[in-house]
Amino acid sequence: MNNMMNKITVGIVVLLLTASIFVLFVARDEPARLPAEEANFAGRSVENGALIFEANCVGCHGVQGKGIPGVAPSINSPEFFTTRLQEVGYVGSLRSFIEGTVNAGRPVGSGEYSAKMATWGQEYGGPLRPDQIHDVASFILNWEATAVAGESTAAQPTPTPLASDASPIEIGTAVYTAQGCAGCHGEPGGAGLVGPNLGGIATRAGSTVPGLSAEEYIQQSIVQPNAYVVPECPNGPCAPNLMPATYGQTLAPAELDGLVQYLLTLE
Ligand code: HEC
Ligand code: HEC
Repeated sequence: MNNMMNKITVGIVVLLLTASIFVLFVARDEPARLPAEEANFAGRSVENGALIFEANCVGCHGVQGKGIPGVAPSINSPEFFTTRLQEVGYVGSLRSFIEGTVNAGRPVGSGEYSAKMATWGQEYGGPLRPDQIHDVASFILNWEATAVAGESTAAQPTPTPLASDASPIEIGTAVYTAQGCAGCHGEPGGAGLVGPNLGGIATRAGSTVPGLSAEEYIQQSIVQPNAYVVPECPNGPCAPNLMPATYGQTLAPAELDGLVQYLLTLE
């Protein structure tokens, strides 16, 4: 009986020892694991931000955030990361400057640009959640090191690769994504965000402006958005000067033709 009790005691002691060694072992690795997880998390925030930027911001700020003359400023320049806050007299961090601007937009522009910085934050009636605003700011901040060093190897959204024998409709579909049209118009058949959704445009385009065929109207809407301003947008009457008026200069003829052919399939 005594012998039995001894065996049980030894058994319990061995178990406890094993358990505490295990706890010590895990605890030893804990400080190393936390930063690794944080880095992982930050990496994912930049990746999500790249997708948000590609879908919403490239249409005005350009594919690498380098700006489009007359439309929107570069937010990937040495000046943006070094002297911009002083220039505007902002005392917070660069992250809060970016998040604040993206959230609220700049309804009153500086007058230097044809476009207006739209309101993106849900709190202000825009389409992006707070975590999406955070992620897109992480993506912009990830350009800092290379912008300041004068190189551009930072993470960038990859343009859709296209086969050389792509049809006009395939080209147009890819351009719609790469140019960020969906950032304002949404995916066709879904909901528009800033501009009208383009689902069904092929059906209505022929009767929108008297004298213009569907094809002519769509072409004009892309190249001269202010020639005819659509009356109804998702957040009320459409504002002129919101859709960038530079696609005629920035898109190659085959891209423009592809876009028109693609939109003509959206019946
Ligand atoms: C319709 C065109 C347009 C779109 C789309 C757009 N912006 Fe802007 N953005 C502008 C313009 C124009 C300005 C400059 C406004 C001014 O000061 O006149 C600006 C300013 C900014 C600034 C401040 C730059 C500075 O130096 O003051 C940031 C940051 C910014 N935009 C980020 C974004 C992000 C992120 C997105 C996508 C979620 C986005 N923008 C989408 C037009 C646009
Ligand atoms: C910054 C937001 C924005 C971006 C980016 C944008 N648009 Fe627009 N678009 C608008 C707004 C707002 C309107 C409605 C006002 C108007 O007619 O100009 C519009 C109107 C249109 C119309 C006419 C829609 C109709 O129902 O008659 C077409 C077609 C169009 N856009 C195509 C495009 C294409 C293609 C792209 C990408 C190459 C694009 N837009 C990028 C905001 C945008």
